[in-house]
Amino acid sequence: MKILFVGDIIGSPGRQAVRRLLPALVHSRGIEFVVANAENAAGGKGLTPAVAQELFAAGVDVLTNGNHVWQHKEILGYIEKEERVLRPANYPQGVGVPGRGSGVYVTASGVKIAVLNLIGRVFMHPYDCPFRVGGPEAKRLRRETPVVIVDFHAEATSEKIAMGWYLNGEVSAVVGTHTHVATADERVSPEGTALITDVGMTGPFDSVIGVVKEPVIEAMIKMMPARHVPAKGDVRLCGLVIEVDAASGRASDVERVCLKLKETVGGEEDHADPDRSGE
Ligand SMILES: [Fe+2]
Ligand SMILES: [Fe+2]
Repeated sequence: MKILFVGDIIGSPGRQAVRRLLPALVHSRGIEFVVANAENAAGGKGLTPAVAQELFAAGVDVLTNGNHVWQHKEILGYIEKEERVLRPANYPQGVGVPGRGSGVYVTASGVKIAVLNLIGRVFMHPYDCPFRVGGPEAKRLRRETPVVIVDFHAEATSEKIAMGWYLNGEVSAVVGTHTHVATADERVSPEGTALITDVGMTGPFDSVIGVVKEPVIEAMIKMMPARHVPAKGDVRLCGLVIEVDAASGRASDVERVCLKLKETVGGEEDHADPDRSGE
């Protein structure tokens, strides 16, 4: 079976790319299940219930997240009850962080697929250890289904590759997200685990990782904070198609995809985000 993982969806341009490009991609490739990282889907940072519903309606089955998951307060109640929206599993344990870090889902043809969302610690906040949380969690999920897809939302290439080897043979795929820049190292290990260090982004490429570029350049020169607004030009949908044997959970092939949206985007309501933190 084929599973598609879609890279960080950026604001309304990214959502338009999903709405306009995903259905044909799913149909032409015979894709059975779609996971997408949605941490930037609402206004460039975070996710709202309305945006999640829009992405589900466009054909996404499960939404993963990352460091921007709590940007909009509406997500707090929603993530408790919507099992198709995940947040990293290694947020602090036992202290009441809302939502869940993994789930098991059933495709239209009856195949069970587990999705696990983890977040890295290198050049990021001191979350709980993604290895010590992710290892046992992957084992637990494997008892429910051999098909396990991991979104490792992390900055450092080394941490993501290390996670790929740590979970090698345990999961079907370790897909890196967060940097918004696709890496060209997609592969499948002899033990049947697919890995890509970063799957890239679904959003405007005429930008600095999705954001209007001029204020970011100015901020870097002046060493002052910049307002981050999603850009609009050169919108693409980037992802990874993973071929997995449903019975064994072993991946057999991966292919990077990056489709360009022909239409220009715009005319949709999207609020700029005053948050000045980096990606
Ligand atoms: Fe992101
Ligand atoms: Fe991120």
